[in-house]
Amino acid sequence: MIQIFDLFCGMGGGSEGVMRMLSELDLSAEVTLGVDADTNAARIFAARFPASAVWTEDVRTAGPAVMSMIRPEAITLLIAGPPCQGHSPLNNRTRGDDPRNSLYRWTVSHAIEVGYDFVIIENVRNIVHSQGDPIGAAEVVLASAGYATRRVLLRGEDVGVAQRRRRLFLVASRRPLDGFEVEVEVEPAPTCGEVLARPLPADGARGIPRLSKANLERMAWMHAKSGRFRVSHASGLLPPSHGPDRSHTDAYGRMDPDDYAPTITGNSGTLGAGRFGHPTEPRLCSLRELARLQDFPDDFPLPTDVGTTATRKALGNAIPPGMTAAIIRTLFA
Ligand SMILES: C[S@@+](CC[C@H](N)C(=O)[O-])C[C@H]1O[C@@H](n2cnc3c(N)ncnc32)[C@H](O)[C@@H]1O
Repeated sequence: MIQIFDLFCGMGGGSEGVMRMLSELDLSAEVTLGVDADTNAARIFAARFPASAVWTEDVRTAGPAVMSMIRPEAITLLIAGPPCQGHSPLNNRTRGDDPRNSLYRWTVSHAIEVGYDFVIIENVRNIVHSQGDPIGAAEVVLASAGYATRRVLLRGEDVGVAQRRRRLFLVASRRPLDGFEVEVEVEPAPTCGEVLARPLPADGARGIPRLSKANLERMAWMHAKSGRFRVSHASGLLPPSHGPDRSHTDAYGRMDPDDYAPTITGNSGTLGAGRFGHPTEPRLCSLRELARLQDFPDDFPLPTDVGTTATRKALGNAIPPGMTAAIIRTLFA
């Protein structure tokens, strides 16, 4: 029996991928615990993993209590996605001195204190440029506690996800990790157009944001020609803040149906925040469509007692399940 402990669990993208692959490999497993300070994200997690304990609190207060939940003979796996804003390239001004970076170090200390058999810590790839090199420091500390470690940089499209998301995973194991290399899928990932073309379930239209008149005009302009995915300055449809020398060239854009989606963030309900326009229709995506682009299956519940903005934020924070599934396949197959 494999017990999964999911810290900074959010809505559960990490656990979803772990469980997907362990079930494919016919290995007995359960999600034992999810912890997240965000009540809304934790509520979605609880809806997906009803048998799991779910604690809505700071992980640092929850840490020691984990040990009492470990069953004798169980194999334990920690999946942790400490917040990444402090390391994100989208947040250059505060990068490095963000107190959230210390949560990464806390996660490593917690992993060693509990002595999990396997540890997977997810973050943005830019963590390698962070002040204090948290990932290098983590490798040293884990190695001195007897863990083998590997860095795994994954691109969504390499593991079957229709999205250009890049994430860096630190994988640690009490067993040697000789020859450990996460394999790239042989089949190319579906494009975002393919993923969104399939019929949607009953909640498929929930949470489509209303567009202003100006944004409807921008979408109409892009859709007037099939190859337009960004509103050009020459169209006269961009706000004055987006002059010809603007740096955010993707703002007010739409996805290319023949390509992978851009990284889905919590701002995907705002046309001006990125290339978040629906690839084939003049509108933004529904929650279910965003969930698909993030590789969640259609039966993953998105409870209606969690508002659309909070759900979009949890979706943007999530690890696409295909990413942790690929790591688990390499660890356990
Ligand atoms: C990158 S997201 C994790 C996403 C999640 N692993 C998933 O796949 O859905 C980071 C999460 O950490 C939570 N968080 C941040 N600081 C926290 C803390 N001190 N204690 C507990 N949760 C925290 C946030 O609420 C957020 O949901």
